[in-house]
This record gives sequence, structure tokens and C-alpha cells, in this order.
Amino acid sequence: MVPLKLSTMISEQQIKERVKTLGKQITEEFKGEDIVAICTLKGSYMFYSDLIREIDLNVVCEFFGVSSYHGKTESSGEVKVTLDVTHPLEGKNVLLVEDIVDSGLTMAYLKTCLLARKPKKLKTVSLLVKPAAMKSDVSLDYHGFTIDNEFVVGYGLDYQELYRNLPYIAKADNLN
Ligand code: IMP
Repeated sequence: MVPLKLSTMISEQQIKERVKTLGKQITEEFKGEDIVAICTLKGSYMFYSDLIREIDLNVVCEFFGVSSYHGKTESSGEVKVTLDVTHPLEGKNVLLVEDIVDSGLTMAYLKTCLLARKPKKLKTVSLLVKPAAMKSDVSLDYHGFTIDNEFVVGYGLDYQELYRNLPYIAKADNLN
């Protein structure tokens, strides 16, 4: 694999500050209630672990595995479930945590899937949103940053399973 030429798009500090704000807003949204926070694997694990530490509520952690890119840089449109949550969601306050919403196909799929389980309330948060998502039907309750239509890696996001461990978001200059 040709190594990516990376340039920082969103710094560690910028992410930290934004995640803190999102945590406060989500705490306010569900004030006094317990929530089930669902981490969408693999991409959102880093955002998720920082975000839940900024949420001042009782949080039950669940993990939902989906794969849509299959190693490419554009969504295949086909969402494959690789891991399901372990407890029923009926009557629960659910927070779905995504890394990035691009075409919106994955988010739309996940929302349909989770709503079918009859949660009391379902709210969604994604660290990043690309403009294409704005044109799709999918609605998002909270997001960290809107970015240009560029392929990004780091802070959980990968290119061919690499670069997830970068503590910041970088754009790949030799891919876009
Ligand atoms: P969507 O279904 O097109 O919205 O794509 C959503 C999923 O594709 C995300 O959860 C990511 O895993 C992946 N994805 C979308 N854009 C990027 C990117 O720029 N870098 C890395 N992964 C991405």
C-alpha cells in the first residue's frame, strides 16, 4: 500500500473542545435519565470513548458493528452488520454514536434498525459530517464538525484499516 500523505485537518485540541461541548449538550438532552450509548464499530470507538466521559449521566455501553466501505474510499451502499448489541433497547433512551456521515446510507440503515427495537428516544451524534449527507434524507441530532468532501483518517477513521490511532483528523492529500 502506498503510504498516505497526510495533513492535519482537525487538531487534537479542537476535537477535545468540541467533544466536551457535545457531552454537555447530550447530558442536558437526557437530563436525569439513564442512556444506552451505542458505539458504531469500528470507526467511532475513539470518539465514543472520549464522548461518554463527557456525559454526566448513567451510561450503559453497547457496540454495534457495521461495515460499508469494504476497504474502498466510497461507500458500497451495502451495509453489513458484523456485531449486534447485547441487550433489548425497548423503552430505553438510546444515543447512537457515529464517526462520520458521508452518503448517509449507514446512518439511515442504523436508524431504521434501532427504531424497529422501539426505544423510548433515539438521538444520533456523529463527529464528522460531509456535505453529501446534507443532501440525503437522513437527520442527525448532533455533530462535531462539517468537513469538505475529502477522505479523512485518524481518531478512529481508517484507510484500509490503518491510521485509526492518530489522535487528530487528517486529510489524505494523495487520495482526493
Ligand atoms: P456513509 O454510509 O456513506 O455515510 O458512510 C459512513 C461510513 O463510511 C462511516 O461510518 C465510515 O466508516 C466510512 N467513511 C465515510 N467517509 C470516510 C472518510 O473520509 N474516511 C474514513 N472512513 C469514511
